[in-house]
Amino acid sequence: MCNILYITTHCNLDCEYCYEKATRDAPGFKHKTVTKSEIDDFVQEILKREGTETDKVVSIFGGEALLRFDLVKYAVEQICKYLPKTGIDIITNGIFFIDIENLQQMKDLQEYSSKHNVYIGLRISYDGSGNFRRVYAKTNTPVTSDIKKVFENFRTLKMPLNIAYTVHKGNCDKKSFIKDISSIILKYRDILDRISTYFYEEEIEEFYGFTHDEFLEYKNWIKERCTYLFQKFKIPLCYLTCEACSLCDKAQTKKNYFVPDDGNKFVELRHEEKFDHWNDEFKGTQ
Ligand SMILES: C[S@@+](CC[C@H](N)C(=O)[O-])C[C@H]1O[C@@H](n2cnc3c(N)ncnc32)[C@H](O)[C@@H]1O
Ligand code: SF4
Repeated sequence: MCNILYITTHCNLDCEYCYEKATRDAPGFKHKTVTKSEIDDFVQEILKREGTETDKVVSIFGGEALLRFDLVKYAVEQICKYLPKTGIDIITNGIFFIDIENLQQMKDLQEYSSKHNVYIGLRISYDGSGNFRRVYAKTNTPVTSDIKKVFENFRTLKMPLNIAYTVHKGNCDKKSFIKDISSIILKYRDILDRISTYFYEEEIEEFYGFTHDEFLEYKNWIKERCTYLFQKFKIPLCYLTCEACSLCDKAQTKKNYFVPDDGNKFVELRHEEKFDHWNDEFKGTQ
C-alpha cells in the first residue's frame, strides 16, 4: 500500500499541463500546508495499520513538497522513529537543489534515514525537449537550464539521479521521444539510476486524434524501443520496460528491478554493485 503525504498545495512553478492547476486556480481554493501534528497522526495511523515488520511505502507529494524542507525533514525523522522498513518516494520539481548545500542536506537526510532502515528515493521532474512547459510561476520562464544545473549538482555530490519524465503534446512525437530519452541516458549515464515516465494521455489522444486503442498502439511502439534501451544501457524506464512495474513502489528506493520479458523474475540490486547482479541474472535469458 502506498501512503501519500501531501506536504503543501503551494508551488513555485506553473507548469502548463499540471493536473493540479485546475484546482489550484479554482475560485475559492485555499492553499493548504500540512501541520506537524497532522504528520504525527499520519505516521501513527500507518504504524497501527501496517506495523513495524512489513515493508512500507510513503510517497511525499505536493504542490512542491520541498518548499517546506523543514516539514519533509520532520516527516522523515518521525518515520525513522516509528516506521522502520519504509521506502520514501519524493517527487519534486528539483528547484530546491539549485543550491548545492540544499542537496547536501538531502544527502545527509538519506544517510541518516538509511541507518534506520528507511530509504529515501528522489525523483526530479524533467521533460527533456518538452521541458519548456515547466515554467517559474513568477516570471513564466522555463526552468530547463536551472534543472540542468541541478543535475550537475547531483554529479558533483555523486548522488544517483532519478528522472520523472512526463510525455505530453510538447514531446510526444515517438521518434523524437526515443531520441530524447537516449540523449538523456548518454549525457547522465554515470549518475542516472532510472527514468520513470508519465503519459498525459488525454492531451496526446487529442493532439493526434487517437482513439484509446490507437494510443495503446503508440505506447506499445515506445515500450518496445524502451525495452531495447533498458537492455542496452541497463537504465530502467519505469512504467515502460517492465510489465510488473506496478509492483515496483518499493523499487523506487530499495533498488529492486524486474527483468523485462521474463515474467515475474525479481532481481535485487544495490548501488555499490550497480547492475552487476542484474547482468548475471539476465545474461542467461538473452
Ligand atoms: C503534480 S507533480 C507534483 C510534484 C512536483 N511538483 C513535481 O513537479 O515533480 C508530479 C508529477 O506529475 C507530472 N504531471 C503534472 N501534470 C501532469 C499531467 N497532466 N499528466 C501526467 N503527468 C503530469 C509532473 O510532470 C510531475 O512529474
Ligand atoms: S512543479 Fe509540479 S506541482 Fe508545480 S506546477 Fe509543475 S507539475 Fe505542477
